[in-house]
Amino acid sequence: MTSDNDRRRGLLARLRGRPAVRSRGRRRLGAAVRLIAALMLAGGAYTVFAPGAQAQDNPPLTGAAAEGKALFDVSCVTCHGRNAQGVEGRGPSLIGVGAASVEFQVSSGRMPLARQEAQAHRKPPVFTDEQTRQLAQYIQELGGGPVVPEGDDLRDGGNVAAGGELFRINCSQCHAFGGGGGALSSGKFAPSLHPATDRQIYAAMLSGPQNMPVFGDNQITPEQKADIIAYIQETLKTDQDPGGFNLGRYGPSTEGLAIFLVGIVALVFASLWIAGKS
Ligand code: HEC
Ligand code: HEC
Repeated sequence: MTSDNDRRRGLLARLRGRPAVRSRGRRRLGAAVRLIAALMLAGGAYTVFAPGAQAQDNPPLTGAAAEGKALFDVSCVTCHGRNAQGVEGRGPSLIGVGAASVEFQVSSGRMPLARQEAQAHRKPPVFTDEQTRQLAQYIQELGGGPVVPEGDDLRDGGNVAAGGELFRINCSQCHAFGGGGGALSSGKFAPSLHPATDRQIYAAMLSGPQNMPVFGDNQITPEQKADIIAYIQETLKTDQDPGGFNLGRYGPSTEGLAIFLVGIVALVFASLWIAGKS
């Protein structure tokens, strides 16, 4: 109907020698064409000017990361895949695990894994500190993730008492009150904390290896991490038996049980003695 009218109006206008009023349909088409053209222009401008839009696909590695990639391609690629994206049934993807996880796994000798087992064990490390940093840098530049802060002393300014409190709330259910570790289900275990360095404790909290939960900086702040590390390194490892006998270090319940048993036996003897007198 309208297009009929439009056409008639256009014809009339042409007969009268006046420019036709553009039809509504054509006007809409024109607007659409202009919109598409503007979008294409904006898109083109974005790809030209956006910082590193191409670099995203193939990030150039820094020197240390390139060294790390060379090590990775020899020692890790069979289980973790060509670009650390993981290999089905052999090893998980390492994209996004961060330098912290690599540092933890490699510096504690868990990686490279020698054979498949329920849980990677601590072993003497295969790589030097320098090589470990390079491997960590490579994985970091591939996928990002948590990083352990600089320095070997990460307990500086840590409050041992506050650390003890945090340890008992967050860690002792798996690692035991004395940090000696303990069994978990299906052949897995929480290891002893005694061989761990400051950096390894920090990295373990950031990366949550195996069954251990991740303690990110919003759950346990960097200051609280320093407190926990101070407690583990300065109290648990040096003070062998704080406050009494070592009763297997299973915590207050064993101590309570021991006191209870001693008390009961004493009471039994006391009542026997009284009964014998009368
Ligand atoms: C024989 C296979 C194998 C090799 C070789 C190996 N890995 Fe692994 N890796 C595994 C398996 C399986 C796991 C997961 C099991 C575990 O966490 O105990 C794992 C876990 C990891 C993790 C922890 C991932 C996470 O989710 O936090 C890191 C990091 C890692 N490997 C790094 C390396 C690096 C670096 C190398 C080379 C130096 C390496 N691996 C070599 C099998 C392997
Ligand atoms: C749910 C149990 C669980 C809790 C809670 C837990 N961990 Fe762990 N932790 C583990 C397991 C399991 C491993 C061994 C991971 C592996 O072998 O790959 C581990 C490993 C570690 C290691 C490495 C020890 C080594 O061999 O060097 C450190 C350090 C550590 N944990 C610290 C902590 C701290 C600190 C806390 C509290 C903030 C904590 N863990 C809480 C289960 C736990």
